[in-house]
Amino acid sequence: MRLLILSDLHCDNNHQRLGRSIIPEVAAYIREVAPDHVIVAGDMAGGAKRCIQYIEELEQLSGVRLSYIPGNHSIWTDKLNDSWKEYEQLRNHHSSLIGNPLLLGEKWAVIGDMGWYDYSYREESWTREECVSRKESYWRDSAFAKFGMDDEAVTDRMLESFRTQLAAHRDRNVIFVNHFIPYRDYVPISPHNKVWNMIRPFMGSSRIGDLLDESPHVRHVIFGHVHWRFGSKRRGDQWVHCHPLGYVYEWKTEDLAQEIRDASHVIEIDV
Ligand SMILES: [Fe+2]
Ligand SMILES: [Fe+2]
Repeated sequence: MRLLILSDLHCDNNHQRLGRSIIPEVAAYIREVAPDHVIVAGDMAGGAKRCIQYIEELEQLSGVRLSYIPGNHSIWTDKLNDSWKEYEQLRNHHSSLIGNPLLLGEKWAVIGDMGWYDYSYREESWTREECVSRKESYWRDSAFAKFGMDDEAVTDRMLESFRTQLAAHRDRNVIFVNHFIPYRDYVPISPHNKVWNMIRPFMGSSRIGDLLDESPHVRHVIFGHVHWRFGSKRRGDQWVHCHPLGYVYEWKTEDLAQEIRDASHVIEIDV
């Protein structure tokens, strides 16, 4: 069975910058690869309604079912404390993996949830308060991700969801999907990129990685969020996949079809 991995398509933003929708070309690529299923690790677009619109359009044009978990952009809202409502909308959609694992044959399960960040990647000398004030200056979630609770508490909820789902599928090989970076080695301090160093605390949580390291039945880990194509790497007995499309201005070429090809990966499993 072949699963095509994508993330961070940012369809709304890329549509605006390119002057056309990226969906027809993504759908054409999916038809060409002809996977059994598509997995998108968040940041399809801003807000749940738009994400759902793009997901349905992509499914329709490609003819392949898609599984989705929200990214931080997916739950953006301009209303106070309403990000959980955006999250719920996405959770209730047929594409959602949240509490709705994709069981593949007798041996495999794709499970996932949004994930979040808890400042565990901050520099050692930084206090929590410094992270909070840097979030306000450098990170747009401070204006649009409104959960009505601290980031650590959102991360706690996500960890609980991951624990429950991992325990429920202990007898299967697991493909784990979340939007955020679970491992510290993917969040190095940069010697020259000051902005990156400021936003590292909002990249993910090492507690997600700790949980995955304690879960030997996890065979594949998929994430996005960082718009750097780390690719697929071996980590002990796991494969770790990071294949974001990102924004037009971050691409190496001006060729959308080429970028989609470069920002995707196929997992083959024996079901
Ligand atoms: Fe993104
Ligand atoms: Fe993101």
